[in-house]
Amino acid sequence: MRFEILPWMAVVLVLANVALASTKSDKEEKLISAIEDLLEKLEKIEDRASFLDESIRRVEYKTGRAKYSRADPYFPCPNPVDIAPCICTVNEIEVYMDMDCSGIVSNEDLRRVFSSTMPFYRYRQLTIAGVQSSQFTTLDEFSFGPVGFEIVNITGTLLQFIQDGTFAPSEEYLTALHLTKNKIKTFPFESLKTLTALTTLDLSYNDLGIVQNLESSSLRTLNLGHNPSLEIGSQLILSMPALTRLYLQNGNLSSFDPGELGPNGLTYINLANNKITNLIKDSIASTNSWTTVHLDGNPLSNVDVNFLSEVHVNATIALVGTEIVEFDKDVWRAYLERLTYGKVDMTNNPLRCGCDIAWLYDAANLYTKLSDTSACSDGTLLSDIPPEAFPFHCP
Ligand SMILES: *[C@@H]1O[C@H](CO)[C@@H](O)[C@H](O)[C@H]1NC(C)=O
Ligand SMILES: *[C@@H]1O[C@H](CO)[C@@H](O)[C@H](O)[C@H]1NC(C)=O
Ligand SMILES: *[C@@H]1O[C@H](CO)[C@@H](O)[C@H](O)[C@H]1NC(C)=O
Repeated sequence: MRFEILPWMAVVLVLANVALASTKSDKEEKLISAIEDLLEKLEKIEDRASFLDESIRRVEYKTGRAKYSRADPYFPCPNPVDIAPCICTVNEIEVYMDMDCSGIVSNEDLRRVFSSTMPFYRYRQLTIAGVQSSQFTTLDEFSFGPVGFEIVNITGTLLQFIQDGTFAPSEEYLTALHLTKNKIKTFPFESLKTLTALTTLDLSYNDLGIVQNLESSSLRTLNLGHNPSLEIGSQLILSMPALTRLYLQNGNLSSFDPGELGPNGLTYINLANNKITNLIKDSIASTNSWTTVHLDGNPLSNVDVNFLSEVHVNATIALVGTEIVEFDKDVWRAYLERLTYGKVDMTNNPLRCGCDIAWLYDAANLYTKLSDTSACSDGTLLSDIPPEAFPFHCP
């Protein structure tokens, strides 16, 4: 909404004056005064426009739609007394404000702080760390009033319930939600799709139970690790086209059947330390190739052919401390053949190293695609077995 006409009109007027300086007729005088009138009107329009511009900007700042600028007269933090025990800090150079509310002791404290007079409704980061008060258990639509954040970091608290609408004012610009190490039992997963800028959601080390039907067009990293009761409902992902990293380790997943994960383009998945005993065809399937798959620490004794979709040439497939006895050629040969720098890690498994692993030592030397610490049940490293032994013992 900038008026660029004004300087041009001024130039036209000067030129007209110069051109007509010597021989001004009545007509020409009239023309000049008409241009002068026009100029005056344009100036008024421009004043009006910049006033409107300014008003729109203020409304945008207030509603959090615009990023603040240092030049803005409404830049400073709220009155510190109004928002105590929260503390607002300004970064003058990069022009943003952070809010640290680690001093609160109750749900009501937050409501009071964020219903006080706020010059701005948009903050860069909110931190609430180490609040060990049983009066701080819930976040809901009233907790932050009209205020929104780009990054939220709530950690080391007894927070249990996060209700729908909590982050509604931040919908368009909340990029990261770090909610690790609380006691979160409920999170409004159904409203995830409204947080259209969110790329990282970290809910690790909480008390989540069943999670399912997730939808988000923006989320790239989802961490649900270390929730001891975590289970997947009928299907974890409904639609998450941007998601590439998924952490589900140290949960209570006992099965991981085809379709349970849902449509995805993941490259990284961590399923370590769950209760998975068996993986049938297409259980761990992505439309991307896997760069990292962690299955370590599961009581996994059986994997079927194609339990995993295509792996990246540099992939790490880790099965440390599982219960695999038979390293089956039909299951593994295709994956090992694909790996160049990648490795399959079979450290600490009860592997039976008889003639059934002779295929690892044929001309393709596929045993080199296993990690250096991969070993037989008796502890013999696979890399220490001389390849010549097999043709001799396993004709
Ligand atoms: C969250 O805040 C805590 C306490 O200030 C800090 O130790 C931690 O690194 C922060 N996490 C992130 C992701 O910024
Ligand atoms: C894990 O699931 C089993 C049932 O499958 C249940 O008995 C057990 O209590 C669960 N563990 C946790 C920590 O929730
Ligand atoms: C695999 O890793 C090697 C060594 O780090 C690297 O040079 C190569 O570009 C990688 N290949 C792909 C396809 O990423």
